[in-house]
Amino acid sequence: MAERALAGLSKPDVALELTLRPALFSDFVGQERVKERLEIAVQAARQRGEALDHLLLSGPPGLGKTTIAHIIARAMGSNLKATSGPTIEKAGDLAGLLTNLEEGDVLFIDEIHRLQKTIEEYLYPAMEDFKLDIIIDQGPNARSVRLNLPRFTLVGATTRSGLLTAPLLTRFPLRERLDYYEAAQLQHIVVRSARLLDVETEREAALDVARRSRGTPRIANNLLRRVRDYAQVRGNGRITHEVADRALAMLEIDRDGLDEMDKRILEAVIAKFGGGPVGVNSLAVAVGEEPDTIEEVYEPYLIMQGYLKRTPQGRVANESSYQKLGLKRGPGDQGRLL
Ligand SMILES: Nc1ncnc2c1ncn2[C@@H]1O[C@H](COP(=O)(O)OP(=O)(O)O)[C@@H](O)[C@H]1O
Ligand SMILES: [Mg+2]
Repeated sequence: MAERALAGLSKPDVALELTLRPALFSDFVGQERVKERLEIAVQAARQRGEALDHLLLSGPPGLGKTTIAHIIARAMGSNLKATSGPTIEKAGDLAGLLTNLEEGDVLFIDEIHRLQKTIEEYLYPAMEDFKLDIIIDQGPNARSVRLNLPRFTLVGATTRSGLLTAPLLTRFPLRERLDYYEAAQLQHIVVRSARLLDVETEREAALDVARRSRGTPRIANNLLRRVRDYAQVRGNGRITHEVADRALAMLEIDRDGLDEMDKRILEAVIAKFGGGPVGVNSLAVAVGEEPDTIEEVYEPYLIMQGYLKRTPQGRVANESSYQKLGLKRGPGDQGRLL
């Protein structure tokens, strides 16, 4: 649900996303170091006949966290039960999920930073000792009962690892952060998706799509589908470089893949704060977003692409930000001093 909201996807889009989702590590493009560490952990656990250690996956939306959770469950030969932080409202909901698990199952909790504190506390002994203390009855008859749980693997996903409490964080022996993808990796993903969608696509056209995808596979797949529609209606169905170019221009997708919020952030740094340096809290107020979201979802991409620089005094706009927005540096702009 939440995942759909994040990416603004409709129902058919979700079905398509499932067909494009790689099911094996060998189909999962990029994130090589993460993949290697996880494959070793999986293989070692399998050899010992144990459940995999709990794993926390963090990183911006659309980079493959949910996909990895499914790949892991499959590689372990176990079932995946999925839920998300905000949907677990009562301790009873959590107890229901945990007591229905089988030995070695993967419990996937998306948006785990949005778990309520009281529920989080039930999770600690469940993760650590595979025990669950529940209170039954009320008033004078209330008593605590300890249930034994099967050995399971909790896979938590979060876009905002900074919001996780220390006790929860430290209960994940495995922690991995996913990074934005390079254009060449996204091109590979687009070529693979085009094959699955059975649409003929030139390699150069796949790169056109990749470059505008904000380093994000989900965006690359969504753009590919829009370009496919265009090729079908305005062309002969084949996605050539020229067709991709025209389709992307029609869609008014930013040439460098930046989205509205990216541009608002750059614009605020320049127009409201003279190019910076500006602290993340002031910037957050200026664009109407939470500071953690700016730090964990938007900024990493803008920094990777060289639009922003993080200095001890705050964020500073680089020359490319001015060029992007077609703005000139003012005489009072601080940015150039740093
Ligand atoms: N490394 C990858 N290789 C190929 N496709 C990927 C990869 N990562 C993500 N995708 C595609 O992007 C979509 C979104 O990934 P998802 O795992 O749902 O992201 P997240 O859970 O991090 O928001 C998936 O359905 C899949 O099609
Ligand atoms: Mg997800």
